[in-house]
Amino acid sequence: MVRRISSKWAKTNAIRRNREVARHLPETSKLTADHLKRMLDRYKMVYVKPDRGSYGNGVMRVEKSGAGYRYQAGRKIVKFRRFEALFGALRRLTRGKTYLVQKGIHLLRYRGNRFDLRVMTQLSPKKRWETTGIIGRAAAKGKIVTNYHNGGKVYTAETLLKPHTTNVHAQLKSLARLGVQTGRSLRKSFPGISEIGLDIAMDKSLKPWILEVNTKPDPYIFLKHPNRAIFNKIRRYQTAR
Ligand SMILES: Nc1ncnc2c1ncn2[C@@H]1O[C@H](COP(=O)(O)OP(=O)(O)OP(=O)(O)O)[C@@H](O)[C@H]1O
Ligand SMILES: [Mg+2]
Repeated sequence: MVRRISSKWAKTNAIRRNREVARHLPETSKLTADHLKRMLDRYKMVYVKPDRGSYGNGVMRVEKSGAGYRYQAGRKIVKFRRFEALFGALRRLTRGKTYLVQKGIHLLRYRGNRFDLRVMTQLSPKKRWETTGIIGRAAAKGKIVTNYHNGGKVYTAETLLKPHTTNVHAQLKSLARLGVQTGRSLRKSFPGISEIGLDIAMDKSLKPWILEVNTKPDPYIFLKHPNRAIFNKIRRYQTAR
């Protein structure tokens, strides 16, 4: 049985079938010149990323502005006048691999750095989906990905959200629910799946967007949570299988 799905495209298409979950998916398509052009016209800012990537490697932020186009990879920014020149450069960078283009979400910031949240949702020993932990990651200064391997720092979700809302608790509750809905719908297509880690972006209206669903989520990030009971439960659920 498949216990891990590495294709972001396959996972996105599986969970898109659930209407409630679909509302939280930023538009995503395979990278082609036509798709990129159309999505840049529509959203002005998009993310381009490998279909089977990890650690934030190969992730790029592409923008359209009055003066032309630019992409950012790491801290490097490259500018172009014409779309054809931009796409030519991207084609060289992405050669030989499938890439996706996704509506860019303007992440909330903490002390000036972009952050997103990781929602851990697992099948309990009683075989019910349950969100067992939520934690946050803030990008290093000027970076476009929040991954630890790219200098990201871990904080509690409460710390990151508090400056943006008066009701952190309600936000976390709805994220927990979104995790459960996503787990259920993913398991319909992939019955071997028993835990997921959602990468969630919050926009400035505090709407959560599912950037990615990891099917082999790292439990150890929760060692950084001051409440050790969270990590212990996650491990208990993992070893109960
Ligand atoms: N559409 C988007 N809008 C805003 N930021 C994004 C978007 N897609 C990705 N990012 C940023 O880039 C980071 C890495 O992207 P993503 O999680 O899709 O790939 P990955 O981390 O390489 O894969 P994995 O989590 O499997 O290792 C995200 O955590 C987020 O900070
Ligand atoms: Mg990720």
